[in-house]
Amino acid sequence: MTNDRKIEIYESIMPEIRSALSACPDKVAGMATAACILHHAFPLFFWTGFYRVIAPKKLAIGPYQGTLGCLMIPFDKGVCGFSATTKETVIVDDVHKFEVHITCDSRSCSEIVVPVFDSKGEVIGVLDIDSVEYSAFDTTDAKYLEQICQLISNIERDN
Ligand code: SME
Repeated sequence: MTNDRKIEIYESIMPEIRSALSACPDKVAGMATAACILHHAFPLFFWTGFYRVIAPKKLAIGPYQGTLGCLMIPFDKGVCGFSATTKETVIVDDVHKFEVHITCDSRSCSEIVVPVFDSKGEVIGVLDIDSVEYSAFDTTDAKYLEQICQLISNIERDN
C-alpha cells in the first residue's frame, strides 16, 4: 500500500473514531470501537486489538478483531511487553527476527504496538496490530495510532 493511500484511509476513519470515542462511556468500549473501525478499514490488518494491564507487569487480552490472541503477556515477553516496558511505540518489520516476539498466529509477519497511558503517564494497555505483510507499518501508522490511543486515554471511565 502506498503511503498516500494509507494516509487517505486514516484520514477517512479519524473523524468516525473521534466522534465515537468522544461519546464513549468507558475505555474498554473505546478500545472495542477503535479496534473494529481500524480492522475493517485496512485489508492487511490481520489482528487488531488491545492488551490491558490487569496486574503489575501483566497484560491480558482486551477487545480485538482477528484470530485467537494469546490470553496473557507478561511485561518481559513479546512486542507488547516490550512496548509496555519502554512506554514507546514499537514497529517490527519482521516478527521472526524479533527475539521476544510471541507468535499467536504464524501468518503474522510484521507488527506495531502502541502504548496507552492513564492521566499520570502510567501504561494501562497497548494497541497491537499485526499484518500478513512484512514491513507493513511505519511512522505514518505510529502517528495516527498514537492519536487514537490518546483519545482512549482521554476517556474518563476505565472498566
Ligand atoms: N505478537 C504479540 C503477541 C500478541 S498477538 O500477536 C495477538 C507480541 O509479541 O507481543
